[in-house]
Amino acid sequence: MADSESGATVIAFVSQKGGVGKSTLSRGLAREAAKSGLAVKIADLDTQQGTSVDWHRRRLDEGVEPVISVEGFKTADQALAQADRYDLLIIDAPARASEATQKIAQRAALVVQPTNPALDDLGPAVRLFHELVKAGIPKKRLVFAINHVLTDAEEVAAREYLTEAGYDVLRGYLPSKTSYRDAQNHGRSVTETRYDALNSKADALIQSLINLV
Ligand SMILES: Nc1ncnc2c1ncn2[C@@H]1O[C@H](COP(=O)(O)OP(=O)(O)O)[C@@H](O)[C@H]1O
Ligand SMILES: [Mg+2]
Repeated sequence: MADSESGATVIAFVSQKGGVGKSTLSRGLAREAAKSGLAVKIADLDTQQGTSVDWHRRRLDEGVEPVISVEGFKTADQALAQADRYDLLIIDAPARASEATQKIAQRAALVVQPTNPALDDLGPAVRLFHELVKAGIPKKRLVFAINHVLTDAEEVAAREYLTEAGYDVLRGYLPSKTSYRDAQNHGRSVTETRYDALNSKADALIQSLINLV
């Protein structure tokens, strides 16, 4: 996981909409990377919500290993300034932050946009990536992650839509499951639920992301 610039590989999770899974996938990636021995940090830029910071506290309370470092930052610049202290810096971005999103995308090796599979969500999601491409971000650094899937057919249709729009989509997806929420309520990641089958599904998605960098 080397980067051409000095410092960490930066992977950012962005979207216009809230609730699509930026924080969820940030934690899943952090957990898998930390478990494989990388020095990793989640930079939580959503200071209003502070979701990942709160999750970190719950993880410590529950004594879940490995400990994952999470820190809140007010600006993208402050977060990116930390990059050379880690192997992997994961940016958990807030919704609706177009300027910050562009700044993050300039520096990130990969910009991941989680999306719900409904058409109402896919249209705006594609438009955000179009904007980044217009701002000069190479298409090959942009990738979608499909989340909140209820049926196989829905996942297939979403993948087709995003591919036709010209973007890469991570292999695998997250089904919509209460157990994923429960796990995160207890400071665990989506790869640390009580169900092996769900952990494997989440792991497949996250490994396909790790394989890209
Ligand atoms: N696949 C899923 N199944 C069930 N709940 C999920 C799933 N993915 C995310 N969630 C839940 O949805 C909510 C929003 O997810 P979150 O990752 O915080 O989104 P974002 O960071 O994009 O706002 C959280 O309560 C989270 O636990
Ligand atoms: Mg979030």
